[in-house]
Amino acid sequence: MKTLILGAKGMLGTDISLLFPDATQWDLGDVDITNESELELKVKALNPDVIINCAAFTDVNAAEEKQEAANLLNGKALLYIVNAAKKVDAIIVHYSTDYVFDGKQKLGYAEDAPTNPLNMYGSSKALGEKNLTENYAKFYLLRTAWLFGKNGKNFISTMLDLAKTRDELKVVNDQTGSPTYTKDLAQVTFDLLEKKQPFGIYHASNDGSCTWYEFAVEIFKQASVDITVNPCTSDEYPSPAQRPKYSILQNTKLPKLRTWQKAVQAYLEETQ
Ligand SMILES: NC(=O)c1ccc[n+]([C@@H]2O[C@H](COP(=O)([O-])OP(=O)(O)OC[C@H]3O[C@@H](n4cnc5c(N)ncnc54)[C@H](OP(=O)(O)O)[C@@H]3O)[C@@H](O)[C@H]2O)c1
Repeated sequence: MKTLILGAKGMLGTDISLLFPDATQWDLGDVDITNESELELKVKALNPDVIINCAAFTDVNAAEEKQEAANLLNGKALLYIVNAAKKVDAIIVHYSTDYVFDGKQKLGYAEDAPTNPLNMYGSSKALGEKNLTENYAKFYLLRTAWLFGKNGKNFISTMLDLAKTRDELKVVNDQTGSPTYTKDLAQVTFDLLEKKQPFGIYHASNDGSCTWYEFAVEIFKQASVDITVNPCTSDEYPSPAQRPKYSILQNTKLPKLRTWQKAVQAYLEETQ
């Protein structure tokens, strides 16, 4: 199958590109997915069977100020991708986030739960979901959460960098989610396509859940870093975007991924 990867140089895009070495890999310098005519022309000329979209506006705090840019890239551009895919009858693979949910359900959210985002990033991603699911049938929409990967700034690299200059850190302990390794998400994507699973919405995060504080403690334990980590509340660590308290993605359709702790171990072994 002829595959096109959009946002191929991003954190997830790089791991997807490694699993699909024969795919055409485009990033912002090759095509701007917010430019409808450019995207359509280039996709038509390439004529792919599958379009994997890893391009996104992912800065959650910046999205509060740059609402228009976030809505264009995460929301409206999905209409452009759908229109381009229709011209060549391609399957679309797209990624969304736990932040489309409000986080009020302690046990998490199933694939068909109604969305109700708390912040601008979440609402821009929810718009993208709507534009995709209401206008096209041949799609895999994978919601994921708290991504970490070798090719991007992520929570693990941030914690390890901070530990180089500090003896003590405060980390938020009232937001719960599921850390997810981009390499594992790339494999889920590969398997969905290879096994020709039914189109639709899937939840793909590493198994288990934790708070950011618990995530930090586990990272330092596994990396053998001696540092004091203190739990704090979101109110003590104000940020522009409000985040859901419990954004666990219930996975009722796919085989379970390895636990997030095992994924952290693999990441550390592969990066240190
Ligand atoms: N990161 C997370 O924790 C997280 C959590 C849940 C879901 N997700 C979702 O997972 C997916 C992948 O996220 P990620 O963290 O891997 O993203 P990322 O590292 O921010 O990568 C996004 C890529 O898209 C490119 N891009 C930006 N604007 C573009 C445009 N107009 N046209 C084409 N390409 C453009 C970026 O290029 P530049 O770098 O040059 O701008 C970058 O290479 C996204 O859909 C995201 O919403 C992420």
